[in-house]
Amino acid sequence: MKRFALATASSLAVLASTSVMAEPQAEVLHWWTSGGEAKSVAVLQEEFAANGGTWTDMPVAGGGGDAAMTALRARVLSGNAPTAVQLKGPAIQEWYEEGVLADISNVAEAEGWDKVLPASIAAHMKCEGTWCAAPVNVHRVDWIWANADVLAANGIEMPTTWDEFNAAAEKLQAAGVIPLAHGGQAWQDATVFETVVLGLGGPEFYKKALVELDPEALTSDTMVKVFDQMRTLRGFVDENFSGRDWNLATAMVMNGEAAFQIMGDWAKGEFLAAGKEPGKDFLCASTPGDGYLYNVDSFAMFDVEGDDKRAGQELLAKLIVAPKFQEVFNLNKGSIPARTDVALDKFDMCAKISAEDMATSSENGSLLPSYAHGMALRGAQAGAITDVVTAHFNSDMSSQEAVQQLADAVANSY
Ligand code: BGC
Repeated sequence: MKRFALATASSLAVLASTSVMAEPQAEVLHWWTSGGEAKSVAVLQEEFAANGGTWTDMPVAGGGGDAAMTALRARVLSGNAPTAVQLKGPAIQEWYEEGVLADISNVAEAEGWDKVLPASIAAHMKCEGTWCAAPVNVHRVDWIWANADVLAANGIEMPTTWDEFNAAAEKLQAAGVIPLAHGGQAWQDATVFETVVLGLGGPEFYKKALVELDPEALTSDTMVKVFDQMRTLRGFVDENFSGRDWNLATAMVMNGEAAFQIMGDWAKGEFLAAGKEPGKDFLCASTPGDGYLYNVDSFAMFDVEGDDKRAGQELLAKLIVAPKFQEVFNLNKGSIPARTDVALDKFDMCAKISAEDMATSSENGSLLPSYAHGMALRGAQAGAITDVVTAHFNSDMSSQEAVQQLADAVANSY
């Protein structure tokens, strides 16, 4: 009995030392493949390698991550989950419920994440009280980006209301400039749509419609006006918009072919990667109206076998939330750090506006999760809304018909 106990103790010691000695390995599934995104993820790859880790990259191209999520499902179903996955919002909880996520509470507790993350962000990272994801950043979705020279040449200021936006766009169109650079992909339509819901309806309406899925809000006159505005915006995009990637739309603004893009601040990552300066070459402003739509990128670790992989997960989680990484990564990515204790001295004016507006909106209750970027709703409900938004944008469906379809699609999505 005693010998058995001894043997057990010594094999445990061996096990423990193997996991300490194990060389950290991580296969990382993400969708950061554009210029600015690739530059940002490289920061993590370099830090991981500098700390003795071996990174196996699994990039799945496709803005917004739909293709990456399809690839993830296939991998998990075949019993071969990647070690770490770019995953966010309610999808983290959905995977947790499938019983396939690893618990990273030991790292979170050792690193004191609860003390440095805002409660609203920490809540997305916890699954039934345990830590199941590590946050990278806060992206703001409700932004308009503009080519500074194009606006100046046409005597246009950054619009502060949707009417001003429409008037500016008409003027630009008459001058032969494409007013709105847009890529006709469902998630990009959804991105524009949610900014219009927030802008025309206000924060309370946004919450009722796109967080609580209140049928009255979904079929309201306000929602009819939202679809009217989407139809107006459809008239401001060029005829080649279908299927265009978001970063190609950003490039149209950069090279002066188009004036505006409505897109989250990963677009700023593209401008910066191309050497453009905010306030000089390009302008940023929140889309018309109050409120702030947040989109927090994070990584979840999947339950995998092997000390080296587990060591990789721990190292990755630790690096991701560390202050140095949060600074450098976000300077490239266009977002702001998720941690509250990282100084913003090195960040540009757009990032500072984002941080200030986030603080104000958090105080006055208008800090809201982006539905289009998977922060507000579960996949089935978000997908049901996006299908209608895209169908409306790409047809001559009336706004009345769209709100009816919206309410029906949501009701049938459960
Ligand atoms: C992600 C960003 C990414 C963007 C475009 C968003 O959903 O949060 O990190 O840059 O999609 O791919």
